[in-house]
Amino acid sequence: MNRTNLESKPLPCATTCAITPSTIATDPTVVPKISLLDILRGSKTAVDQLWASLIHRGYFLLCYDAGTPISSVSPTLGAIIETVEGMKSVLTPNTANWPPSQCSVSSGDVYFNERDVPMYRLGYDDGTGGEGGDKDKIREYFRVANGNIPGVGGWREWGREVVRGTCFCSYLADVLLHQTLGPKRRKPKRSQRARWMEPESIDLEEPSSGGVEGGDFSILYAMNYFNTPSSISHASSPSFTGSDGRPLSLREHVDPSLFVIEPVVGRAVGGLEIWDKLGGRWVAADGDGAEAIGCLGEGEDCMAVFVGKAFERAWKSEKSNEPEINATLHRVRQPTKGEIGRPRRAVIYEQKYAEYFE
Ligand SMILES: [Fe+2]
Repeated sequence: MNRTNLESKPLPCATTCAITPSTIATDPTVVPKISLLDILRGSKTAVDQLWASLIHRGYFLLCYDAGTPISSVSPTLGAIIETVEGMKSVLTPNTANWPPSQCSVSSGDVYFNERDVPMYRLGYDDGTGGEGGDKDKIREYFRVANGNIPGVGGWREWGREVVRGTCFCSYLADVLLHQTLGPKRRKPKRSQRARWMEPESIDLEEPSSGGVEGGDFSILYAMNYFNTPSSISHASSPSFTGSDGRPLSLREHVDPSLFVIEPVVGRAVGGLEIWDKLGGRWVAADGDGAEAIGCLGEGEDCMAVFVGKAFERAWKSEKSNEPEINATLHRVRQPTKGEIGRPRRAVIYEQKYAEYFE
């Protein structure tokens, strides 16, 4: 079937996406869900939902209809489904397919962030990685640079599916930035959209060396929480206890970034919990039994999105007449009894541009 001819047809969206901005702002029992396709198309309703979610809830889910055969949907929806499936296949637990591809850039390598600070000094790990390393005993992580960051490695090491996922997240995050902070900000990059829509066009050699391209420090992390008895015992100190007493694998914190996207939420083992401002409670965002998964309609899937400190600052300076948007508190809970011995594998994209850190 020729997909191009289908682009003009109405795009499917599950009815559960139809949550109004005022419901998002006032009803704490409703999970803020927005149509991903409407966001990509710049629909006014979707943008209103976006603002309401960030102001009142601190996060939102971008939902899409994954239950439709790819051959019968628009190119955009087909590319979303293919991208997520590609990332899922790389992260599938209980296979030898980890780390992704032949990646040589691991948690043992030093990554200097947008402020030129080694990440291991920022307190995200437990400090056991030692000087010069940010690996800990609870998780390991691998990084794909969206820009061109020395030391973070080239795309060739990752394989096309993960790079495609990075390009999608980069494009989506730029769309979100554009729709929240306004047209003066970076425009969504056509090149990233092209790489995402047509993955065969990705030149895996392209960002292999050199300086930071255009101040783009954005990173896609592929994370592996070991969830072994040893890793769990390592996270047993009081500092790994949540504000509600829950044992954690990653402390409650806010990210330094602009938008943060978890593009694959539907996996067996979850753990991410996001603080819902209106509800005053933690919302389980990924894995079996998560609230985010439970509120999806038949055949529907979603991505989880929230914001970091750079967005909070930019919003404050750009939208001084609007209510504040604060960086979103989040954490990773410890595995349940049934999850012990089963790793949690997750993808997180953090959008970071140099001009938001100056
Ligand atoms: Fe985080």
